[in-house]
Amino acid sequence: VTVVTSVGDFRELARRRVPRAIFDYADRGSYEEITIRRNRADLDALTLRQRVMVDASKQTLATTLAGQPSALPLMIAPTGLTGLFRGNGEIYGARAAAAAGIPFCLGTLSILSIEQVRESTEVPFWFQLYLMRDRGFNANLIARAKEAKCPVLVLTLDLQVMGVRRRDAKNGLSVPPRLTLRNALDIATKPGWALGVLTAKSRAFGNLKPLAGSADLKSLSAWVANQFDPSITWKDVAWVRERWPGKLVLKGVLDADDARLAVDQGADAVVVSNHGGRQLDGACSSIAALPEVVRAVQGRCEVLLDGGVMSGQDVLKALALGARGCLIGKAYLYALAAQGQAGVAKAIEIIGNELKVSLALTGAIDVQNVSPDILR
Ligand SMILES: Cc1cc2nc3c(=O)[nH]c(=O)nc-3n(C[C@H](O)[C@H](O)[C@H](O)COP(=O)(O)O)c2cc1C
Repeated sequence: VTVVTSVGDFRELARRRVPRAIFDYADRGSYEEITIRRNRADLDALTLRQRVMVDASKQTLATTLAGQPSALPLMIAPTGLTGLFRGNGEIYGARAAAAAGIPFCLGTLSILSIEQVRESTEVPFWFQLYLMRDRGFNANLIARAKEAKCPVLVLTLDLQVMGVRRRDAKNGLSVPPRLTLRNALDIATKPGWALGVLTAKSRAFGNLKPLAGSADLKSLSAWVANQFDPSITWKDVAWVRERWPGKLVLKGVLDADDARLAVDQGADAVVVSNHGGRQLDGACSSIAALPEVVRAVQGRCEVLLDGGVMSGQDVLKALALGARGCLIGKAYLYALAAQGQAGVAKAIEIIGNELKVSLALTGAIDVQNVSPDILR
């Protein structure tokens, strides 16, 4: 790939630059990978209506997401282990997003800690929370997000148990990466990656030192199974709502009934999401669930979407079906792994330009006002 023109190009570059176990951790889904494929297939299956002779000289691409200004109806999704895709990757992602004027969401399972990212970036970022068994520790994370001036807390609802990603089990994915012979051979051919990751500010879960200690975590899924609380319910969402005065986004809603329950909890936004096809395999695609969620919330909270979004055309389709904006997970990680901060900046620029052109060619003008009529 000499000239990068799409997110697909970044995927190819990432595949060559990072060890197989890391690439697969992002690229693959749970079990038979039915849902991860559906996310893409259902977006592809939507047909845009080409309309001509509509003045496209005055487009509006800017919007707000959970009340925060954004230059595009797009933001960076929270992803775990990001600093293993590129050393200090969370800082690069946050900086690229800030420069592009879009929100960045840091994950609980980031490699760098909230504080490490905060001290290296100018613009406050959003923080994603996973509830752990230790309630005191959750309260501690919430306090640290407040201290870091995060304007928005994203509570992820769809991982109280972990979907099995068979590839990760076969690759022996662990944090920090274990040096098996196979890994060592792989890493030896990826010196650029290794140098960056080995010299980074952190190589384990930065936010979880008090929980994880320095102990070697065997497999990621075994560790998650130990720390994550499978007993969480909507009452725990209320617990978080009481402690978080800022905007609260509930992520992982894929059903109209759950969308109504999320509104009842005082969500400022929901993210229609199946965790990028990494959790319940056999679930519907995010884009297929979007219309029923939009109907269910009746404008009482914002509706965002993620799952399979790789282009501006994908974003436009989601807007047409009622989403206020989209999050990118894999698209972001491919670009970060491939080219660091410049790569993420470029990926945002590519998706933004695709959106701009496609808006014009469908005769739509304002991203806050895209009609379902632009779909056939
Ligand atoms: C490698 C990877 C790690 C992820 N880690 C988290 C996480 O820690 N917390 C979370 O809420 N979502 C996590 N997600 C899900 C994303 O936030 C998002 O829902 C998903 O990636 C969207 O689908 P896409 O990858 O097709 O864009 C992760 C996704 C990927 C690909």
